[in-house]
Amino acid sequence: MEPGGGELLDPENPMSTDWEDRYQRGETPWDKGAPSPGLVDFLARHPVTGRVLVPGCGFGHDVRALAASAGEVVGMDLAPSAVQGAESFPKVGGERYVLGDFLNPDPGFCGDFDWVWEHTCFCAISPSVRQAYARAVASALRPGGEFLAVFYLDPGNSSPDEGPPFGVDKEELDAIFAADFELLEEWLPLRAYPGREGREWMRRMRRR
Ligand SMILES: C[S@@+](CC[C@H](N)C(=O)[O-])C[C@H]1O[C@@H](n2cnc3c(N)ncnc32)[C@H](O)[C@@H]1O
Repeated sequence: MEPGGGELLDPENPMSTDWEDRYQRGETPWDKGAPSPGLVDFLARHPVTGRVLVPGCGFGHDVRALAASAGEVVGMDLAPSAVQGAESFPKVGGERYVLGDFLNPDPGFCGDFDWVWEHTCFCAISPSVRQAYARAVASALRPGGEFLAVFYLDPGNSSPDEGPPFGVDKEELDAIFAADFELLEEWLPLRAYPGREGREWMRRMRRR
């Protein structure tokens, strides 16, 4: 997702991005056709095993990168065309895709994931629902489960009225996730998609 990547239907309401419409029109500048470089590099040094949830998975490139080692990887997206597109790729392991709103998940999604991987879902939702996002991650994970994320610190938007992606700073991340998560490590990813170098930040947290 790049600046202006998610125009708003209603600038007064940052929830109003019509993701399905963007997919149907083929306007998906966030889709790079490959997994997040930060995730690829993490996987090269640390296995991610067990059950993994990827909210806002888009076409599922990260899901498939994770499925190469993890037992079951569930990619969730609220846009039917994203799920359909993800399903059109050849299977690499135990991955599957579900249509759903991560902020209002089915009860069956709660509590038993070992990992949640975040990449450009947090920056796509309204800043006003970030606390709900943090609660949704905590609900999805088992106690001791891990939340691995690449956050888009600086997407280059001059104003939130431009719509997503919405940036965040480290202090806000501390405040949003402190209640339910212990910070294990954080780092500047050595590699990023072209144009995002130095603008992302990775954190690995454990659910209390
Ligand atoms: C900017 S795109 C990123 C997609 C993917 N992570 C990638 O990097 O290619 C944001 C995605 O989040 C999805 N999304 C937005 N809000 C969501 C929600 N509440 N629950 C599930 N998916 C959501 C959108 O449909 C879209 O596919």
